[in-house]
Amino acid sequence: MQEIITQQEINETVSALRARLSITPRVGLILGSGLNTLADSVSGAQIIPVRELPHWPLSTVMGHSGQLVIGALENKNVMVLQGRVHYYEGYHMSQVTLPIRVMHKLGVDVLIVTNAAGGINPNFLPGDVMLITDHLNLAGMMGLNPLIGPNLDEFGPRFPDMSQAYDRSLADIARQSALEAGVTLREGVYAGLSGPSFETPADLRFLHMAGADSVGMSTVPEVTVARHGNMRVLGFSGISNKANLDGSTITTHDEVMEAGRVITPKMEKIIRGVLRAL
Ligand code: HPA
Repeated sequence: MQEIITQQEINETVSALRARLSITPRVGLILGSGLNTLADSVSGAQIIPVRELPHWPLSTVMGHSGQLVIGALENKNVMVLQGRVHYYEGYHMSQVTLPIRVMHKLGVDVLIVTNAAGGINPNFLPGDVMLITDHLNLAGMMGLNPLIGPNLDEFGPRFPDMSQAYDRSLADIARQSALEAGVTLREGVYAGLSGPSFETPADLRFLHMAGADSVGMSTVPEVTVARHGNMRVLGFSGISNKANLDGSTITTHDEVMEAGRVITPKMEKIIRGVLRAL
């Protein structure tokens, strides 16, 4: 497998997509496992199966359909990715994050990311929505950072700042939107692991001590690349299951997909409010 996506390959993907787009997207949305249905309410939607695009990594996971939906949500031009790929599928980190590079080059400057996550914070319940205020880049600490390799100077610096990975003013807008929609919004730190195995109870106790409130297998690479390109980022975890610090219950992918059905309408209300306020 080819290891690192080059600037030229990014440009090829961008050209192929631009040739088909009838609008310029401003807001990028990446939908996590079981949270795909938000894309169904995009109006004037243009749907592009990602397998028709050069270099685009194809999802292998149930619940990720692999298409771009471009159109308007709350009168904002959006580009929604249904079906991100994950590192655990065997792709290189630069492939996992190609969609962010492409969105950036097409003009997207606000990125909204969602994921399904285990709730580590003992106050969280399955079905909750958590505003991501920061993340633990655990995969990155182990050497799996998507910015490893030649720096793409066109996008950003060799050593990008990550002190405010999640945009504070967008977070304020999200809090206000949740309040107006009557949706309880939790807040916390997302721990990004590579997966695909779920965590052991010892892993989870470690993450809890390290300050994590939710845990999942995505998002951090995309946010890292988005910040490299100075995009403003807003992130949400849908809490699909309670992380089980004492090993008394098991976590399944079915559980994650089922919780998505409860979480999606809440996230949709919050995200619509944010889009209206942008
Ligand atoms: N752990 C990791 N990833 C997840 C989980 C979890 O408990 N739930 C949904 N994605």
